[in-house]
Amino acid sequence: MTDGFVSVGKISDFQPNQAPTDITPIVQKVAPTAVPRMLTRFSDAVDGSPLFASVASTCTHRGCPILTGDGVWGSTDKPIYESATHIITCPCHNSQFDAGVGQVVRGPARIPLLPFATEIRNGEVYVAISASAASPLSLIHRAGYNLRAAFGGTVFPGTGNKYLVDFGAFVVELFFENDGTLTYTGVRRDGSRGQSETVTIETTYLRDFLFMVTWQESDKTSVVHIEDYDQYVIHTNITNPDQSFVKYRGTFNLIR
Ligand code: FES
Repeated sequence: MTDGFVSVGKISDFQPNQAPTDITPIVQKVAPTAVPRMLTRFSDAVDGSPLFASVASTCTHRGCPILTGDGVWGSTDKPIYESATHIITCPCHNSQFDAGVGQVVRGPARIPLLPFATEIRNGEVYVAISASAASPLSLIHRAGYNLRAAFGGTVFPGTGNKYLVDFGAFVVELFFENDGTLTYTGVRRDGSRGQSETVTIETTYLRDFLFMVTWQESDKTSVVHIEDYDQYVIHTNITNPDQSFVKYRGTFNLIR
């Protein structure tokens, strides 16, 4: 350790554009209370120098380890990482972060991941033990890194995802295939699948991570959902074809 930095390996130990590496055990061997973190190597800079960044690896939403999940809300065998965009996805509730600077790209997380400065010394990669103002941001900007704008909570988080919602009286799987299409499927308590239909939906942003989702089904049932992607709660308001009205509150989990 030198000047608050610790060596985490040789440059050649990390390949460009591979998923982030968990360097927590190496750093904690030197500083046992150091924040868990990951290291990512990007494409080399235009002058050929290697480009690294390190950010915390604990999700700021509910504290899942981003590289693996917690096995309760979600888990993954290998990090869910897109090298082209440098975006890593938390397997627990699908929050997305920029692996370069830690910024939230998609909620429900709202707080960025702490960045840790990195340096190259004599062919080795050093990472700061403590988060610092000298974050990888300046290094990344120097190298022409294309920082993707943070979308925050204004983008509908459901798109592309599948959720299991337990309304108590019934359980339903919701698959938001794209911005305007939802396939819902009833799921019985024994796990067997029931009625399913693909419907056209309209999503309305209410406030960050809170959306109204509406649709009408083929039998003229009308549904209004208030979907809270912060608390993972859905309020459903259903007007049946005979004009009877029911409403339920349910909690939901991301499924894959
Ligand atoms: S704990 Fe990561 S998205 Fe919820």
